[in-house]
Amino acid sequence: MEAVQIPAGEISELVDRFYAKVRLDPEIGPIFNATIDDWPAHLSLLKNFWSTVLLTERSYKGDPLAKHLPLSLDPPHFSRWLELFEETAREVMPSEHANTIVGKSHRIAQNFQAAIAYHRERRFREHGAGGAPGSSES
Ligand code: HEM
Repeated sequence: MEAVQIPAGEISELVDRFYAKVRLDPEIGPIFNATIDDWPAHLSLLKNFWSTVLLTERSYKGDPLAKHLPLSLDPPHFSRWLELFEETAREVMPSEHANTIVGKSHRIAQNFQAAIAYHRERRFREHGAGGAPGSSES
């Protein structure tokens, strides 16, 4: 597949507009507003993240999954996140670019959700009512 080059200006506008909507969203806004104190730093981190995901530069070196595991995120939160992200991507970039970044967002969200489900299930097995003591898993 041909790599699509998305200009930094489009990524920047997407991130700015997306989080402006997120902060006001009744469903997912409160989760962000409770966690993020420094919005300018978060926006610049997310611009680096997307530039790195899209392979235009390698400026992001974080562990996004570890940040999301403690947040008690459920499938409806992800659906809303993805819906707002796609809506904003289609507002700020040509459809070929939006298709690329929206496709990546879905794949990353799927990985997050699978990891969150796995960790929840493991915690339940270890600490929940029916958890089998002495399970060989660490
Ligand atoms: C239910 C949907 C989501 C919610 C409510 C959510 C919420 C948050 C919050 C509150 C933080 C700040 C964490 C902290 O500083 O401790 C964060 C960080 C971040 N989120 Fe999400 N997120 C969601 C989905 C996603 C998705 C789908 C992606 C990527 C496609 C993503 C990428 C990131 C990245 C890269 C960071 C920065 C991590 C770091 O500090 O290095 N998030 N998110």
